[in-house]
Amino acid sequence: MKNYRNDFPILTTKTMLSSCSQSAMSSQVLHAFKEYENSLLVSGMDWNEWMRVTNLAKEKFATLINCDPSEIAILGSVSDCISSVLNALPLSGREVVTTSMDFPCIGQSILAQQKKKSFELKFIPNQDYIIPIESYEKYVTDNTALTCIPHVSFYNGFKQDLRAVSEIVHRKGSLLFVDAYQSAGAVSIDVKKDNIDILVAGMQKYLLGVPGIAFMYIRKDLAESLEPSTIGWFGQKDIFGFHYDLLEYADSAQRFNTGTPPVINAYIANAALEYILNVGVEAIEAHLTELSEFTFQEAIKRNLQLYSPTSASDRGSATAIYCKDANRMEQLLRNENLILSARKDCIRLAPHFYNTKGDIIKALDAIVKHLPETLA
Ligand SMILES: Cc1ncc(COP(=O)(O)O)c(C=O)c1O
Repeated sequence: MKNYRNDFPILTTKTMLSSCSQSAMSSQVLHAFKEYENSLLVSGMDWNEWMRVTNLAKEKFATLINCDPSEIAILGSVSDCISSVLNALPLSGREVVTTSMDFPCIGQSILAQQKKKSFELKFIPNQDYIIPIESYEKYVTDNTALTCIPHVSFYNGFKQDLRAVSEIVHRKGSLLFVDAYQSAGAVSIDVKKDNIDILVAGMQKYLLGVPGIAFMYIRKDLAESLEPSTIGWFGQKDIFGFHYDLLEYADSAQRFNTGTPPVINAYIANAALEYILNVGVEAIEAHLTELSEFTFQEAIKRNLQLYSPTSASDRGSATAIYCKDANRMEQLLRNENLILSARKDCIRLAPHFYNTKGDIIKALDAIVKHLPETLA
């Protein structure tokens, strides 16, 4: 892997291992903040340019996951995406299946829908923090309308085989919704090859951007069979026709757009996606697979308790280490310029392509040193 560290000013002072939460920011991406500022300073109002850059970001995300840009809607967060999909789907009398490894916003959104529509909700339990593929055979039935899964779990980096899950849920007649927020930018994604119906991701984690923007892929024929009720003028066929008394859905996934897109976030997303595509996700994935295995083995050598899967093929790039008071550990590490992210009872080491084995050793040694202080 080529050395990209000079592009990331923060790496001169901090060891960033927090890509499961916020990655380091490159100079190129930081420049995009300025470009938006300049458009306000110089042009005052430049709708055409703002829309052009927003569309460029959408096109790049489409390239990243291999779909047509028209199959991508832009929303504000993954939470917005799942709510919008659930609002649009006819679920009454059916089942929705999700997992205990999903980010909470997925289960919470489904529970909120249950207040309005009558359907059965099943949570697939984890077994030692993984979901065995056989669970999908057991929990998804021929009455399941929608199955929601994370590609990679936020909690411990458990990675699922999308093609294998997709084959099972489609055989049973269910749609597949994939939350790829923890994999986009770190793991190759091909929605066509893996036959995914809906896939969502924000920009803050491995995609090198900021929160406040999320991309939602919806297969064209599926999108056009749905009439979303969470809508806005950017989801209409004739956006600038200003028809106050006409509801005319745009084609493909565009009908899931809501109001004015988050333009500054789209500027940042455009620069960040350009950077990721230039580095290349396959090269990133290869580097992270090596770092993940290295982290796993070095953590075992130090007798640290791991919550990440034991099998390398089930692992994404983040490694979760048990730590009773993980938030305190995060703070103690921060005091030493080590930026890691805690979730519940785990501290997560989440490297990116700019990280080295030296970064991992530094973090693991500091975790070992501080562990006694976090046991109380
Ligand atoms: C896998 C996953 N999905 C969803 C979210 C939440 O996304 P948002 O804040 O955009 O709703 C997170 C945030 O950590 C996440 O890791």
